Amino acid sequence: MTQSLTLRRPDDWHLHLRDGAMLQGVLPETARHFARAIIMPNLVPPVVTGAQAAAYRDRILAALPEGARFEPLMVLYLTEDSDPADIRAAHASGLVKSVKLYPAGATTNSQSGVRNFDKVRPVLEAMAEIGLPLCVHGEVTASEVDIFDREAVFIDTVLDPLRRATPGLRVVMEHITTSQGVDYARAGGPDLGATITTHHLIINRNHILAGGIKPHYYCLPVAKRETHRQALRAAATSGDACFFLGTDSAPHVDALKEHACGCAGCFTATNTMSCLAHVFEEMGALDRLEAFTSLNGPAFYRLPVNEATIRLVKHDAPHAYPDKIYTEAGPVTVFNPGFPLHWTVEA
Ligand code: NCD
Ligand code: ZN
Repeated sequence: MTQSLTLRRPDDWHLHLRDGAMLQGVLPETARHFARAIIMPNLVPPVVTGAQAAAYRDRILAALPEGARFEPLMVLYLTEDSDPADIRAAHASGLVKSVKLYPAGATTNSQSGVRNFDKVRPVLEAMAEIGLPLCVHGEVTASEVDIFDREAVFIDTVLDPLRRATPGLRVVMEHITTSQGVDYARAGGPDLGATITTHHLIINRNHILAGGIKPHYYCLPVAKRETHRQALRAAATSGDACFFLGTDSAPHVDALKEHACGCAGCFTATNTMSCLAHVFEEMGALDRLEAFTSLNGPAFYRLPVNEATIRLVKHDAPHAYPDKIYTEAGPVTVFNPGFPLHWTVEA
């Protein structure tokens, strides 16, 4: 019997679209299924000012396929020189939906990020006042902290003090990968949300490292041990309002992934909804998929839910996704979940 499920059209609350030829190549993969996405600003140079965000938004809209309905939700990259007045204006005009905090050196193109948190205090205070969310890449960068511990240490030594020092600041913990992240988000109240990626529900660190190194599973924050994956699956499928989808789909051309110093990022835009339907079905939680992909995110960002819907259909035969998409910037490998995908998006 064919099983099907109708959901409000999903949104992606953490997405990398890049620019130029890569943007042109990857945007259709997201616009096919998603109504809106929070667009990460870690371009080179980064999207710091309202004017830069407006120009980037125009480039995204120009790259959309004919007839596509997709709304990019713009984000400013927080630097130690960010101007609170510019951020206020970009928010007041409706252009910008969040500001992104990258600890300097934490991930791809984060070198312009924050080193000294005192320098961004006026910006954080302005954001708390106007209710503009701060999206946080939650990893410390100190070389003496083990890479698998960087998220948990960040929560205790940076995030919690920062939130206590800035009452009213609304924060999204981006791409959480640990049970500590899950627990902290759950306890945080209505001003704290957390995104969870598709791939962190599917892979643990063995997928990257056991039986030969698999560069296409390497992303940041790096996938952790299995107990953490289980905590993330429980959180995503719980229906709890603080958890919502942020795919962190992060394309890099194969030449830079399959490299002696490979880039971090999994490209999941193409098959994310199929992967999620599989995971939620496995967890006996298909009835909570819509909360995760289409309801909890808009509620946190204080935006209306989408009126349009998509239909997910489960087929007897597995659906074959392309191994790669071919962009003018080069080939990009699509995330391989390691199991056959029976769910497809029909409309
Ligand atoms: C992202 C990228 O490539 O821009 N990479 C990743 O592994 N997630 C950056 C990020 O979100 O950390
Ligand atoms: Zn990201």
